[in-house]
Amino acid sequence: MAEQRNFLDIDEVDGATLRAMLDVGARMKRDGGNEVALAGKTLAMVFEKPSTRTRVSFDVAMQSLGGKVVILEPEGSQLGRGETVADTARILSQYVDVIMYRTSSQDNLMEMASAASIPVINGLTDASHPCQIMADVMTYEEVAGPIADRVVAWCGDANNVANSWIHAAVQFGFEFRIASPEGFRPPADILEWAAARNGRISVSGDPVAAVRGADCVVTDTWVSMGDAEADKRRAALTPFRVDAALMAQADSKAVFMHCLPVYRGDEATAEVVDGPQSVIWTEAGNRLHAQKSILLWCLLGDEGLA
Ligand code: CP
Ligand code: NVA
Repeated sequence: MAEQRNFLDIDEVDGATLRAMLDVGARMKRDGGNEVALAGKTLAMVFEKPSTRTRVSFDVAMQSLGGKVVILEPEGSQLGRGETVADTARILSQYVDVIMYRTSSQDNLMEMASAASIPVINGLTDASHPCQIMADVMTYEEVAGPIADRVVAWCGDANNVANSWIHAAVQFGFEFRIASPEGFRPPADILEWAAARNGRISVSGDPVAAVRGADCVVTDTWVSMGDAEADKRRAALTPFRVDAALMAQADSKAVFMHCLPVYRGDEATAEVVDGPQSVIWTEAGNRLHAQKSILLWCLLGDEGLA
């Protein structure tokens, strides 16, 4: 039976392994390689929420490492008729070698990981999106050099993606400034986790102060999958939109990042999203390379990252 080496969150994997994943991902992007490393292995992807990037990049990543992929969704599987997540995990563990799971609740993810006997990868929950932020850190380093001691500013809803940025700030040693209105700020337990590790995390309601001198400005949709009251959210978050005037407060070499999908005119203006500082296409492309190294580590351990 394969060892259960899960990739559930950035705070749960040691820093040296995370660093090795980024380095191997960047190396594979540059040089290729590992085309048969996962021959004979199968990835099951379980999607309880929509996806374009995560779905296609994991599929292509697994196949380009020599493996195979099966996809399950509630419609078309017994999950949609009430078969439990735990039972699904036990069944999939008989057939495949690794599970990538996108779901609403962290509890569902934990149920999958507990009941499975094979590695489980978090493909997004309401609480975190670790695969995305691995690609984001890889992207920052590709375009601007080492992220350690740099300043990343988040403006808008401090959501699942922001939570994973907080984890990454501690693990990779950069400053992370969050500007969000009351009611849209990170959960206390994540801030306490970061503070206990001397994380350089700040939270304010002042986007200009957060962005001033920053090396990277990042935001995400104001209405995540499953969020209600879109109009109320837009009203509260409008002062946190990333526009050209706000970008001008950042360092002159600062980059703009967004996990996508983006809603131009809401969280960021089209001028910024499609402007010269935006690295969103490289960021989306790097999901493929980051995920290859996550799959290699989950299935082969440190040897997969050699
Ligand atoms: N950024 C991201 O996870 O995109 P998808 O929802 O399309 O997978
Ligand atoms: N915060 C967004 C990210 C989408 C990739 C959501 O959860 O919908």
